[in-house]
Amino acid sequence: MTEVLRVDPHNPDRSVIARAADCLRRGGLVAFPTETVYGLGAHALDRSAIRRIFAAKGRPANDPLIVHVTSLDAAAPLVAAIPEAARRLAAAFWPGPLTMVLQKSESVPDEVTAGLVTVAVRAPSHPVARCLLDAAGVPVAAPSANLFSRPSPTRASHVIADLDGRIEIVLDGGATSIGVESTVVDLSADPPTILRSGAIGAELLRQLLPNLRIERSLALPSDDAMTAPGMLAKHYSPRTPLVLHTGNRSDALRALQLDAQERLDHGERIVVLAYTGDMAELDGLAVLMVELGSEADPEAIAQRLYAALRESDDLAANTILVRSLNTDHPLSAAIHDRLERASTR
Ligand code: TXA
Ligand code: MG
Repeated sequence: MTEVLRVDPHNPDRSVIARAADCLRRGGLVAFPTETVYGLGAHALDRSAIRRIFAAKGRPANDPLIVHVTSLDAAAPLVAAIPEAARRLAAAFWPGPLTMVLQKSESVPDEVTAGLVTVAVRAPSHPVARCLLDAAGVPVAAPSANLFSRPSPTRASHVIADLDGRIEIVLDGGATSIGVESTVVDLSADPPTILRSGAIGAELLRQLLPNLRIERSLALPSDDAMTAPGMLAKHYSPRTPLVLHTGNRSDALRALQLDAQERLDHGERIVVLAYTGDMAELDGLAVLMVELGSEADPEAIAQRLYAALRESDDLAANTILVRSLNTDHPLSAAIHDRLERASTR
């Protein structure tokens, strides 16, 4: 049985947090909200607890986990050294939606890092995550709390839909505020590289790391520990095939409409993940629509993206159609990246 414990996201009840922290310390699995998505936490130095994460998610053992800490000081025992770049990034963005990949120390079990010589560390800013880490007093390894290859969970109900009965506790702190996973920056090699886009965009990071590179591969999964792990192409997918139309608004919308009509003519049931401003123009088509929000508000889109993907999936359509958004907002790249991955078959 999985216990769902409600907590005030701003001011979590200490006794509830203490129970969850105790569970973690004893090798249990606790899902908790972060500012990005819900994480599935386990004691990072407890190998059998870590193995349970992989089993609960059905995650391949070659995909390493992020270790969550309260501060750079708390990360120090996990890494071989703290480079100057890591100090600068932590000072600017921690706690927050930034993960840094560094050379690992001996104390981090191979199960966490999938045998790599590096470890990913992040200090989340969500009060529930922070209180839990404080109370646990141990580093907490936590991937997103979804079944492998399902969209990341942004609400406790998503965690329950995927992991009910497989984990001890879900701390329900409501919907997460950012909605897409943290930016992952690899500082273990030169030049530093963005392995995954997120709320902290490349431009902002470049102010502190002028030689920053962006990994843009959609490499396919392999059996080896991967050079850019987590660059698994099919990583954020609904079960229903998703087709992404790219390009400027009018071209992409036109292509999407034609695609929808052709599929409808073949008797398909179609869901369109639609920006609010597109809905009137899609009205003439016999498609189901799931509203994503206003294209002009990427923060709202990111917050809703994974819930909208799950809602679309639940409509049991043959195909989900969506167009990529066109803004300069840093979250645009992250949203586009997740849609691209969701569309890979
Ligand atoms: O926002 C987030 O980062 C959320 C919350 C829960 O903190 N966590 C999350 O974890 O998205 P997960 O496991 O779903 O994604 C972790 C990413 C994967 O792409 C993984 O391959 C990468 O981080 N990663 C972990 N350790 C790594 C390492 N040593 N080198 C390179 N990439 C690593
Ligand atoms: Mg994940």
